[in-house]
Amino acid sequence: MKNKKLAIGLMSGTSADGVSLAICEFQNRRFRLLHYQTFSYPENLRRQILKGRFLKADEISRLNFSLGRFFADQTVKFLKQARISFSRVAVIGSHGQTIYHGPNDSPPNTFQIGEPSFLKERTGISVVSDFRPGDIVCGGQGAPLISFFDDYFFGGGPARALQNIGGIGNVTVVGKSISPVAFDTGPGNCLIDFAIQKITKGRLSFDRGGDFSVGGRIHEKAIQQMLNHPYFRQKPPKSTGREIFNESFIPSYLWKAKPEDLIATLTYFTAKTIHHSYQSFVRTTIREIIVSGGGAFNLTLMNHLKNLFSPIPVRSIKNWGLHAQAKEPAAFAFFALRAIHGETNHLPQTTGARKAVILGKIIP
Ligand SMILES: Nc1ncnc2c1ncn2[C@@H]1O[C@H](COP(=O)(O)OP(=O)(O)O)[C@@H](O)[C@H]1O
Ligand SMILES: [Mg+2]
Repeated sequence: MKNKKLAIGLMSGTSADGVSLAICEFQNRRFRLLHYQTFSYPENLRRQILKGRFLKADEISRLNFSLGRFFADQTVKFLKQARISFSRVAVIGSHGQTIYHGPNDSPPNTFQIGEPSFLKERTGISVVSDFRPGDIVCGGQGAPLISFFDDYFFGGGPARALQNIGGIGNVTVVGKSISPVAFDTGPGNCLIDFAIQKITKGRLSFDRGGDFSVGGRIHEKAIQQMLNHPYFRQKPPKSTGREIFNESFIPSYLWKAKPEDLIATLTYFTAKTIHHSYQSFVRTTIREIIVSGGGAFNLTLMNHLKNLFSPIPVRSIKNWGLHAQAKEPAAFAFFALRAIHGETNHLPQTTGARKAVILGKIIP
């Protein structure tokens, strides 16, 4: 991209907290975030999304359209907030909401919804959506796709790990002289979110700042037991989701612990899975860890990571001028821009795909 181009990205991850939007200006190997915002899902949409794979065909079809309309409405609002006119934007990239991710099923499959035609209709801007299937049909896991972005913009320096902590955790290890490695590390905020929603009967949807678990006791036995799950031994490329890391993953006896102990244990466990995965599968000596995703705001989680990885510095991506939840939508904006220019937006060695392709389906 020689000339400056504006692109919008929409990301709605496994947390089902809402849709995050970013608008960025891209030029060569640089980008600038112009505006970012997360729009929470209305409760009825959120409830439907969480039912996900248990919905009937007609319910999924309606949800696809409801979500698509919601995405388009928020995008219009977002551009108004940003004071940017539709005509200046080259493309919108929309990840969609994952309803089911089954890369290891027969046949391998993945399903993201949120009808992109609404975006086109409301803004007149070209839209690229549905990025994951193109990787799956080439034999990949359909994830993590963010690796292309991480390598493109952060790969020119020392060996670094870019750790995203959304609902699920994923890492990309990049650096000037290394070939990128990426995989899902396991749970991100999802276990903490489930537990806190359950024990507060929905009053809290997440542990803001990580305050809830401060002073809680960590149950070592539960940590060891949860770490025994085969996912943590499986070699990359690998990806995961709510299919494994849901309420039933949490040992039943932990639910009887004090609320702050339960959350403290799940928070430490989440940090531990990240550390354990690097020890098992990352052969490079990493110089720094850059954390993005909503988990970067959980200071208890961040402190565990700092202690586990010490002396390697662990820093939020905000030190690079990016809001922690803006990286993923910025990446889908970039992938969309690459797609409409006929350029690959894919790092197949990190997903297990046979070749690099142009991911996404274009509404011109
Ligand atoms: N201020 C905060 N303090 C602690 N956790 C937070 C905060 N803000 C967001 N989170 C966590 O981040 C999650 C959303 O992260 P996000 O990166 O959007 O994930 P996803 O891509 O799965 O939607 C929330 O569900 C919550 O667990
Ligand atoms: Mg989110």
